[in-house]
Amino acid sequence: MARIQRRKVTVIGAGNVGATTAQRIAESGLADVVLVDIVEGLPQGKGLDLAEAAPVVGHDGRITGTNSYDETSGSDVIVVTSGIARKPGMSRDDLISTNAGIVRGVVSEAAKRSPDAILVVVTNPLDAMCHVAIKASGFPKSRVIGMAGTLDSARFRHFIALETGVSVEDVRAFVVGGHGDTMVPLPRYSAVGGIPLPEMLSAERIAALVQRTRSGGAEIVELLKTGSAFYAPAAATFEVVESILLDRRRLIPCAALLEGEYGVQGLFVGVPVVVGAGGIERIIEVKFTPEEQAAFTKSADAVKELLALI
Ligand code: NAI
Ligand code: 2OP
Repeated sequence: MARIQRRKVTVIGAGNVGATTAQRIAESGLADVVLVDIVEGLPQGKGLDLAEAAPVVGHDGRITGTNSYDETSGSDVIVVTSGIARKPGMSRDDLISTNAGIVRGVVSEAAKRSPDAILVVVTNPLDAMCHVAIKASGFPKSRVIGMAGTLDSARFRHFIALETGVSVEDVRAFVVGGHGDTMVPLPRYSAVGGIPLPEMLSAERIAALVQRTRSGGAEIVELLKTGSAFYAPAAATFEVVESILLDRRRLIPCAALLEGEYGVQGLFVGVPVVVGAGGIERIIEVKFTPEEQAAFTKSADAVKELLALI
């Protein structure tokens, strides 16, 4: 009897985001997980701990930890979370030179062993790290996806649900642009039970929720003091990975390489995309008002300025 080939996901970086993402993938049963980190014992220990949870949780996914890349060969998806995270007072952009070197190294090691994989980049500063990843891998643009918009949109959804007193399940929200202070939450494309947000809340309340979304990452850093958010980032990363593994074709905001779309050339910026088995199957171009376009262009310009630092 022919055996079903199990899917394989490599998660690089066994820190907060990486380990939590690995847990979500393993517990979903969708794929085996290889957890990689530079620190000896860390991925092995977390991998073993997660494997020992499997009998209780009830899944048969295999999860292993390693410091080498040979075990990652033939992965369907590679999630990149390795790097340093923010501490209080640091912006995502302060991480750039350290993380560019880390992402370049890990992506070139992983990509040559899994030449057909789809890369999901998480390390910050996100949009700039996507550029490093596409260059280091040599992959086509459809197979390099930046995870950030799904997280920023989840934060916006949470704040809208709190404000309106409606279930998060009925709240849709969209955040585009770079994953930084200039990100662009789009109230016109956000809705509660199908009702456009501007019809549910006053302009003042929407502006307050937009601002809280923009500083959502910093709010958590200030509270944690020793690192940045990881539960919501891992859940949002899983959303992208699941859409690839199951070819769900979710329409979600992710960083994609734009080549003319939204008036942007040659930059990774968050936009609505359809994510499926091939990675980014399609970039959706929605109509912006002049104000939305100006905010989006400003955000793309911020990504461009950051790239100049690499
Ligand atoms: P963390 O510090 O808990 O984990 C990072 C891990 O990377 C550590 O275990 C470290 O040993 C490992 N690492 C460092 N250099 C490595 C190398 N050369 N090879 C393999 N592993 C290496 O950090 P956390 O909280 O997991 O965050 C990871 C990254 O994700 C940060 O850059 C953070 O800013 C970013 N992030 C991005 C989000 C987004 O929306 N795109 C959301 C949350 C975090
Ligand atoms: C966040 O938004 C730090 O990018 C990370 O929480």
